[in-house]
Amino acid sequence: MFLKNKLLTSTAALLFCAGLSTQAAAHGDVTPQGVDTTGLEALGEEWRDENPYRPPYENNELAIKVGASAYNQNCARCHGLEGISGGIAPDLRMLEPGLEGDEWYQYRVVNGAVRDGAVYMPKMADYLSQEALWSIRTWLESLSVDE
Ligand code: HEC
Repeated sequence: MFLKNKLLTSTAALLFCAGLSTQAAAHGDVTPQGVDTTGLEALGEEWRDENPYRPPYENNELAIKVGASAYNQNCARCHGLEGISGGIAPDLRMLEPGLEGDEWYQYRVVNGAVRDGAVYMPKMADYLSQEALWSIRTWLESLSVDE
């Protein structure tokens, strides 16, 4: 709880600074956009270790579509439009495919990236559902493979 409050405080501080500098706005501003995951298998509270929407999942195409829009609304301002990093944050198309990449992906979206009290990446799992986050991962993986 303490940590969470601390995170919220520093997010609030960044939000305050955002008013002063557009650079800060790119980092601190969390206005999560609702993601409609209708049609995708509901996953419940407990995190899956592995992306459940990867082929041969029957609604893989839908997951890619949902993920593309969820990404552009929630991650693109730091990680780059269409997944192409402009240098502020890592290029997520470069994540390992498969289970290994899933573990790192999950670790980051759940824990965010906070150093010395500064929020480099918010805990996105506090704002978005597991369904939305795995669909983003599904879309990112669809970009890193030639189809
Ligand atoms: C406020 C800016 C910001 C937003 C919004 C953001 N990220 Fe990040 N993200 C970062 C930064 C900065 C890093 C690098 C953190 C570090 O290494 O210290 C990062 C790292 C990551 C990593 C690890 C990448 C690697 O190569 O190690 C993943 C995965 C990730 N973000 C996923 C996401 C997803 C998915 C979203 C949207 C749901 C998102 N991020 C939204 C800033 C952001």
